Order: sequence, then C-alpha cells, then structure tokens
Amino acid sequence: MTTYFARPTLPGPAALVLATLLLTGCVSGAAYEGSPAAGTTPEARAEQPGTAGRDAEEPGAEEPGEGPGEDPDAESAAEPAAPPSIDLTKHSATDPASPWVVVNKHAPIDPVDHEPELTTVRGYLVRPDAAPDLTAFLEAADADGVHLTLRSAYRGYPKQAEVYAGWVAQLGAAEADEVSARPGYSEHQTGLAVDVGSTTRPECDFDPCFGETVEGRWVTEHAEAFGFLVRYTPGNAVVTGYGPEAWHLRWVGRDLAKYMRDTGATTLEEVFDVPGGGYVR
Ligand code: DAL
Ligand code: ZN
Repeated sequence: MTTYFARPTLPGPAALVLATLLLTGCVSGAAYEGSPAAGTTPEARAEQPGTAGRDAEEPGAEEPGEGPGEDPDAESAAEPAAPPSIDLTKHSATDPASPWVVVNKHAPIDPVDHEPELTTVRGYLVRPDAAPDLTAFLEAADADGVHLTLRSAYRGYPKQAEVYAGWVAQLGAAEADEVSARPGYSEHQTGLAVDVGSTTRPECDFDPCFGETVEGRWVTEHAEAFGFLVRYTPGNAVVTGYGPEAWHLRWVGRDLAKYMRDTGATTLEEVFDVPGGGYVR
C-alpha cells in the first residue's frame, strides 16, 4: 500500500507539488492495494440507512495616462478579475456545529462526544443544514440519468470506533489510519459527510474504481455546485492525511465550495490555514 503520511503538518508548495507528482496516477489500485472487496468494508458492514487568495488586486488601478476611453481594448484586457468575495470568519472552523468545521488528524471533534442535530435524507442521517443540498444533489443526478446511492452518512463516535476497529483488524493500525479516521476524528461524526455509491458498478463502492464509474464522474463534476467537496483526492492526500476517496463528500455550503473552486483551493486546511497531515501520536 502506498503510504500517504509523509509529513506531520501542512506542507509547503514544493511538498504539495511533489506529492501531486507522486500520487497522481496512483488512484487505481496502489492506494488501496490489499483493501477488502467493496461491500465487505467496515463502512459497508456497519451502515444501515437511518440507524446510525489570492490577494485582491486594486480594482481600477491604472497606469498613469491610461484614462477611461483612451484605449478601450487595452483597458478591458488589463481589467483584473473580480476577487472571490466571501467572509471566511463567518463560521467557526473549530466548532463541530459549524458548517465549516475542519476535522482532521490534528483537529479532532471537540468535544469528542459531540452529537449533531440530525435529519434524514433517503434513509440516512445528516445535519439539517446539509439536507437540502444533498437532496438537490441526488435529484439532479437522477435527472441526468445518474443514480447515486448513499452508503454511509452520520456515524457517531461508537459507530466510528467499530468501523475503525474493523479496518485495523484487516489492515493493521498503520494502514487503517490511511483509510479510516480514529473515533473522534471523523467528519462523519459531524453529520456533514456522506459516502456515495454506484448503481451501475456497486462493486466499486468504497473502492478507488468508484471514481471511474459514471456516478463517480458525475460526482466529481457536480459536487461543488451543490456545496460539497470531494474531500480526499490524490493531489491533497499529504494535507488531508488520507488516501483518495472519490466517494466521500463533505458539505460546506455553496458559497465556500464556490470560493474554493474560484481560488483553486482543494482543502479546508489551506482555506483556514490549519495544520493537516498525519496524527501527532
Ligand atoms: N474514511 C474517512 C477518512 C473517515 O473514516 O472519516
Ligand atoms: Zn466517508
């Protein structure tokens, strides 16, 4: 299995580039070499539905003598793109009840026994603020003839402990830590994360091949428009601390998802400038 735990903290740009070079192309197989067949993963066994800047340039800054109307073509070519507008302090990045909470191997859920408000979407428990976008996302896929399934959503601390223990039993602790969060460290405990599956190739659920399915491709293309991030990608594994999971979607809301698309940010860690990478211990 490829090891993704190269660094304990948020890496610099050079490391990210190196990680991207190393990890891109490793999606099929290598990252999960030896992982159990889809449908027999601890997540699949445990889950039953319902149980569970860039710096802003100064707009209008002009070279001396370049008054409006002097050279319309040149002026419009020099017009800076409008900077993405969002207040990144609008929601907390540490409160587990916040839509923007960052949960990673350096940032466990605090308090660790936090239980979110929950509602049901297609039989699965999610946070009420994520539910409308999740419903719209699934309905939009259906309208495109792409039928996604939900395979997992909210997992409380005890359920995550069960799932993580299952992975440790199968892979050992070191490799389990690359694919499963320790209890108290999973986005699923916030009610803001879902794992989606494929109807055309269900054998690819919880497997790297999900990303190659028609459903996986639709997810990659459309998640952001509905406020979701594909949280764990080949290119950001060093920052997130996990191997790529094309099926794990984290709801952050449409404004932050759009901001991240516009700025090219792929992780919450870089948006909120918080450490990522492997466990401290
Ligand atoms: N598989 C993801 C990292 C989780 O367990 O939350
Ligand atoms: Zn997940």
